[in-house]
Amino acid sequence: MTDQAIITGASRGIGQALAARFRKEGWGVLNLARQPSHVPGVVDLGVDLGSGDWEPRVEAALRDTAGQAKDHRVCLVHNAAIYDHDDALELTAAQLRRVLEVNVVAPAVLNRLTRPYLGDGSSILYVGSTLSEKAVRGNASYVTSKHALVGLMRSTCQDLAGTRIHTACVCPGFTDTEMLREHLGDDAKRAAIISAKSTFGRLITPDEIANVLYFCATTPTVNGAVLHANLGQVET
Ligand SMILES: NC(=O)c1ccc[n+]([C@@H]2O[C@H](COP(=O)([O-])OP(=O)(O)OC[C@H]3O[C@@H](n4cnc5c(N)ncnc54)[C@H](OP(=O)(O)O)[C@@H]3O)[C@@H](O)[C@H]2O)c1
Repeated sequence: MTDQAIITGASRGIGQALAARFRKEGWGVLNLARQPSHVPGVVDLGVDLGSGDWEPRVEAALRDTAGQAKDHRVCLVHNAAIYDHDDALELTAAQLRRVLEVNVVAPAVLNRLTRPYLGDGSSILYVGSTLSEKAVRGNASYVTSKHALVGLMRSTCQDLAGTRIHTACVCPGFTDTEMLREHLGDDAKRAAIISAKSTFGRLITPDEIANVLYFCATTPTVNGAVLHANLGQVET
């Protein structure tokens, strides 16, 4: 058995790029998402992490994958997220719960389910956002969830003290994925404005974020760290 990565949302975007990177390095990969990954060799488990009924199926899949990775590293990556447009003064409980369920509750549950399989050199990685440490207008539930993820990562670090399992939160800037394209619509002008917010004047590629995540998976020294991977943001 080889090292094993468990990635939420490896069906597209950053998660899919990360699945390809792990496969290239010889790791087994389990994709937890509603849609399959298109990366050869990835094992797909179709789950809706917002549904609340996925635990038993994921538990069984973890036994069959991570459970076989004895004496090998396991890397759990909390990547799946919902990005909604909403307002801190108008948010309903249902809207907030829907986003928190996928973005925060699912990672916490997956930590518990995966813990028995995490040995020396294993890791739990969180995909945060620039909005893990600041807010913009109109994204209250997402901003709240991404701040919470940093808290969960820091708690993970403390609660894993002495285990030789490490954790980190990688915070991408504007990355060229469907999530960003859905957010921008077909508006080329808005896309240009977003690109100009990076000191490099361009969007990040999913592969670039996958590189940072893979570095974290294989580098225990970054334990407890929040890493901003955003090409440098132009401050106004
Ligand atoms: N793109 C950016 O500019 C950017 C910037 C900062 C942070 N991020 C973060 O990077 C991560 C990946 O984002 P991305 O841009 O690659 O997004 P994406 O292209 O929209 O991909 C999101 C992934 O999450 C999965 N997902 C969403 N809801 C799910 C659910 N209910 N159950 C299971 N899986 C679910 C999707 O899979 P299915 O649809 O198959 O279920 C998909 O694979 C997210 O945490 C995002 O917040 C992205």
